Amino acid sequence: MSSGTVIAIAIPALVILATVVGFTSLRRRDAQGLGHLSRETRKRDAGTMAAAPVSDEARELEQSVALARLSTEVAVPEPTIPDVWTPPDPEEIGVTRRQFLNRASVTLMTMGLSTFGAANIAFLWPRPTGGFGSKVKIGTISSVNGVIASSSPAVSFSYFSEAQTYLQPYPMDTATQQAAEAVYSGSVLQGIQMGYVALWQKCPHLGCKVPSCATSQWFECPCHGSQYNRVGEKKAGPAPRGMDRFPVIIDGDKVIIDTGSPSQGPPIGTDTTGQGLEGPHCA
Ligand code: FES
Repeated sequence: MSSGTVIAIAIPALVILATVVGFTSLRRRDAQGLGHLSRETRKRDAGTMAAAPVSDEARELEQSVALARLSTEVAVPEPTIPDVWTPPDPEEIGVTRRQFLNRASVTLMTMGLSTFGAANIAFLWPRPTGGFGSKVKIGTISSVNGVIASSSPAVSFSYFSEAQTYLQPYPMDTATQQAAEAVYSGSVLQGIQMGYVALWQKCPHLGCKVPSCATSQWFECPCHGSQYNRVGEKKAGPAPRGMDRFPVIIDGDKVIIDTGSPSQGPPIGTDTTGQGLEGPHCA
């Protein structure tokens, strides 16, 4: 590059740079000049102030104001110590509304749940005495034997509704008793040895009430035709066993049926009495 070309480029660049610097300085001066007095104005004012006469009264007034300013004490506020916060005593406050509502809600809910639970327990709790499902006193020995005697031989079935039981006389001959000892045991055998067997009216097939049949002298279920002899041993039908039975308890002169402890009836094929069909079937 020749020196002429360099000069041709440098000169316009310097001119442009100088223009930018000058414009920028003018803008800064304009900005600084806002709200400021020019040098000429400040010089003229100083000359005016120096030339203006000051009276003695004005000077004294200025001095008195300066002295008053110096003598005036600046009031410094006393430092205050903030109070230390202490929590209030709950005993003094008592019970707030929120506490009252919370406690009332919990109390009412507890009472409701307690009542509900007590009602359920009372409903499910087994009855201690009386009624089916417990030991049911059906009468004295003489009164029960009277019922059995009055029903025999025409019907031969003595029913006690409060125990849902047929209390049947059991033959006391030696052969029958020995046959019973081979099949039965426990409280049921004890009842048989006293001459009683307590048969639950509920059919062991599907639970129908089994009525007695005066003509056949058997129990005959009307639902599906199961048949049992007079002491509840199965003779025919779909039932899986003989009629279920309850313990018979003799307490002094009282006869009690323990309906809370049923025993399953004897298996199919049991026949301790040898009682055959005595007439036409009812079902
Ligand atoms: S319920 Fe008695 S035979 Fe079915």
